Amino acid sequence: MSKLTNSAEWKAISQHYRNSAVNFSMKEAFKSDPERFNKFSLSLNDILFDYSKNLITDETLPLLLGLTQQADLKKKTEAMFSGEIINTTESRAVLHTALRNQSDEPVYVGDEDVMPKVRRELEKMRKFSEFVRSGNWKGYSGKSITDIVNIGIGGSDLGGKMVTTALKPYARPDLNIYFVSNVDQADLIATLEKINPDTTLFIIASKVFNTQETMTNANSAKRWFLQHAPGPSAIKKHFVAISTHRTNVVNFGIDPYNMFEFWNWVGGRFSLWSAVGLSIALYVGMDNFEELLKGAYDADVHFRTTEYDKNIPVIMALLGIWYNNFFEAETHTILPYDNSLSQFGNYLQQGDMESNGKTIDRNGQAVDYHTGPIIWGQPGTNGQHAFYQLIHQGTKLVPCDFLAPAQSHYDLPNHHDILISNYLAQPEAMMKGKTEEEVRADLDADQNKNDVLVASKIFKGNKPSNTFLFRKLTPRTLGSLIALYEHKIFVQGAIWNINSFDQMGVELGKVLAKSILPELSNDQIISGHDSSTNGLINAYKKLR
Ligand code: F6P
Repeated sequence: MSKLTNSAEWKAISQHYRNSAVNFSMKEAFKSDPERFNKFSLSLNDILFDYSKNLITDETLPLLLGLTQQADLKKKTEAMFSGEIINTTESRAVLHTALRNQSDEPVYVGDEDVMPKVRRELEKMRKFSEFVRSGNWKGYSGKSITDIVNIGIGGSDLGGKMVTTALKPYARPDLNIYFVSNVDQADLIATLEKINPDTTLFIIASKVFNTQETMTNANSAKRWFLQHAPGPSAIKKHFVAISTHRTNVVNFGIDPYNMFEFWNWVGGRFSLWSAVGLSIALYVGMDNFEELLKGAYDADVHFRTTEYDKNIPVIMALLGIWYNNFFEAETHTILPYDNSLSQFGNYLQQGDMESNGKTIDRNGQAVDYHTGPIIWGQPGTNGQHAFYQLIHQGTKLVPCDFLAPAQSHYDLPNHHDILISNYLAQPEAMMKGKTEEEVRADLDADQNKNDVLVASKIFKGNKPSNTFLFRKLTPRTLGSLIALYEHKIFVQGAIWNINSFDQMGVELGKVLAKSILPELSNDQIISGHDSSTNGLINAYKKLR
């Protein structure tokens, strides 16, 4: 038995689950306690977090909070913020929080205060983005930049894509942005078809600058560019790099002057706050990028200084553990009722699943409990007409996060209230359900004779959800929301005693792909793998 599952805290929660949670009715709890919403909701600036529609009694949270002590969360949190080597398998500090630190406090990695170089890089981003946005940065034909193409994958793609989609109302309307990530050539080609080489700026974003997909796309983009440009000297006007790896950048042919730096203590999936956010700064301006950083800093301060029973990411994390480990829910869904957050779920998939999809604890022992959930979802109301049926009436428990802005950036009549009525109705329906009595009352006499129809229309309800309501999706609010989720992931990893900051699981596939690639270069029959892989390779060779 692991230290966690053997702990008094874990056992007390198991017992509470067996004794009271299984038969708990949220609907009854709301009826008997008019204060439930006030008791189980919190706020951070313009963000209201309502967690009252969860399967929790007054005893549940105090018991779950025991896990923070069991995990020594305070100590682990300070270790992260103060630059200790908490990513032990890669011997790295984890300091994305330093990238948005708004205080005058130094942040040390070893003996070095990293804040001066963080600020230097922000200043470089400001100068560059203002130069490009003002139209003063000229391409090889003397024209200004109208199109930005970010080539990267994973953490070097998803953050920029998510934030620029979310903050489109803040963008300069005459600046277009594209994100190319997939090594499937269709992705790059679709973008190249829309742009002109002399007015395009390519950002090649890669922490290591040898990621196969990114370098393949970057080389093809460079080849395409050179087919149009007057010569290789034009590259410096159209290609910039974001990386930790100067030599690889120079070898690719990008002037180090055009390189924006970040450091190995910034994990890929937490890198949008670094120079990896250059696409964001270019698209919405550096002032808005800095607002995003400030919003994240607000969440950092909240997480670091607020008592755990009032701490939003801690409560998000504990509720997640409650469902993941005690109710055995396998997934968690992200349902923004804000179309501009269409990429939020995709972004959190990497943030959460790459961080907490682990089976080995920090001591190298196999865990005897479930770790990270499967994260999925898409914006409402679309999801309602696709997969909500399963959430409402399926056999699986799917905890949901609903998110919505009180104010839209747009002003077509009716839309926003219709959107918000749905955002409010879905968690209410999930909580309340519909009883047989209520179903029968809605049916006519004939229909009432049809027991199958009646049974099909019953909703059990009691489906848990969190609801975020914020004033408007500003850069600052978005920064806070992202950072709240980051800290939720951190807290869960701390309680599960896993290293949330490496990603060894993606390596094996990469290595095998590299060994298969040369086998595809001729028509020889392949026999060195298992029969399925051999069969597929040989079939591919016949069909291609
Ligand atoms: O494959 C996983 C991964 O290493 C991610 O963690 C990372 O965000 C992505 O690949 C891209 O890596 P890089 O920025 O080094 O190209």
